[in-house]
Formats: sequence, C-alpha cells, structure tokens
Amino acid sequence: MMIVKTDEQVELMRKSALLVSKTLTEVAKTLQPGLPTINIDKMIGEFIRDNGAIPSFLNYNGYPFNSCISVNDVVVHGFPGKNELQDGDIVTIDVGVILNGWHGDHAYTFAIGDPGAEVMKLIQVTKESLFKGIEKAVAGNYTGDIGFAIQEHTERKNGYGVVRDLVGHGLGKNLHEDPQVPNYGKRGSGKKLKEGLVLAIEPMINLGKRDVYTDEDGWTVKTKDGKPSVHFEHDVCVRRGKADILSNYSTIEKAEEENQHLFTNNILQPTS
Ligand code: CO
Repeated sequence: MMIVKTDEQVELMRKSALLVSKTLTEVAKTLQPGLPTINIDKMIGEFIRDNGAIPSFLNYNGYPFNSCISVNDVVVHGFPGKNELQDGDIVTIDVGVILNGWHGDHAYTFAIGDPGAEVMKLIQVTKESLFKGIEKAVAGNYTGDIGFAIQEHTERKNGYGVVRDLVGHGLGKNLHEDPQVPNYGKRGSGKKLKEGLVLAIEPMINLGKRDVYTDEDGWTVKTKDGKPSVHFEHDVCVRRGKADILSNYSTIEKAEEENQHLFTNNILQPTS
C-alpha cells in the first residue's frame, strides 16, 4: 500500500532528511586515509542522538551498526570495522534517522585521494543518474520511468552494471514502504506515482558486471567481479511537474571540496 503524505508530514520528513544530510556533512569533514570505518560509525551515532534522533539502521532486521559503510567492491550494507580508509578507496556512507517518528535515509559516495579517472567517472555518472531518475519522479509518471532513466544513463550510455537485487523504496513512518523503485525498467511500467509520495531513490551502479552476492555476515553485498560500485541516495517528494528533493547534497559537496584528503568531481547541474 502506497502512503501519500500531507504537506505537514512532508515538512517533518524534510527535517529528517536534512538531519541525514547534516550527518553526512560532518562525516565529509573527517574522512581521510588511516581512519578506521568504525570511528565514522561511532561519530554518526553520536551526532544523530545529539540532534534528538535515533539511528534507524541499528537493529533494523538485526543490522548491528548505526550506518552502512561500503568500501570499493562493497555495493551496500558494508559493516564498519577496524579497517582503515586508504588512499584510492571509494567509500559509500549510508545513514538513516528517525526524527519525530519520520524516517530520513540517504547516501553519498566519497573518493579518498584519487581512485583514478575510470572510477571517478563511475562516481560522476552514478550521481548524474540519480538526478535523471529524480526528474522522472513526478505525479502521473511510473516507477519504471525512474528506473528507465537511471538505466539509460548508466548501463546503455556508459556500459556500467545496474544492480538488480536491491531497489529504492517509499519512505515515511517506516524505512521501507511501497512502492519499490528499481534502478532499471521500462517506461510506463510499475506503480503510478501520486503527489505526496516520498521516495528514496538510490542507484547502485557497478563499474563491471551487475552481479552481486551477500557475504557470510548475512549483510555485506559485494560485486561478483570484485570491481568497485557506487551508490547515491536522495529522499524526494513526488509533486506535479517537478519533484521536491528533501535531502541536500550542497553542504556535503562543500565539505568534500574543502577536505584536502578527498578527490572531488562534483556536478553542479544534472547534465544531459
Ligand atoms: Co534506502
């Protein structure tokens, strides 16, 4: 069942989404080679609680950390640990909060040092594809329009692998609500989008093949071919004509640019 939100509820969800953006901004300031990923997770948990919210991933279906920290060939749901970030790594930080009963859930992939032109292009194209999907998140369109736009830009235009096993989702009082939002699909297929629907759109794009597997820990999703994978996620409200992006990358991007340990390749506008 798809749950449409009132304008008041959307404003509460914007607060939740922006708290995730703020958390990711704090993270972006501290990223550097040598940093154990468990330290990032601790910081995330403290920051969320200091801001009156709860880290929503912790204990979700038994997930044991505040955040998902996915390095290189880890697609999503990476466990934070003693492992230290290294020059040339890419790292996706995925954060969820519950604030006043409403979920925020979004993610950003950072480059530690320079992972090379091929991987930087994967980061840029995946980020662009998120905005191409968001452009289709308007009332009257279908979930398949979002998936088609993402797949078109990443798979058909650039030859990347679009992960099929995991999808975006509705968001609200629950972390995962209807509809599912695949990052692939046919135009005009899937569920029809209504005004006031809030979606977490989250392309997960592999440099190599699309195939993934889940590690023995039951969570960590990795590429089968061992090549890197990128994940960007925004929370958006479906509106007539133009989607309203509730989360915000601008402060994250500013922190990324000001952090000398990060290699940035920011797009200011979604390109065609
Ligand atoms: Co999500």
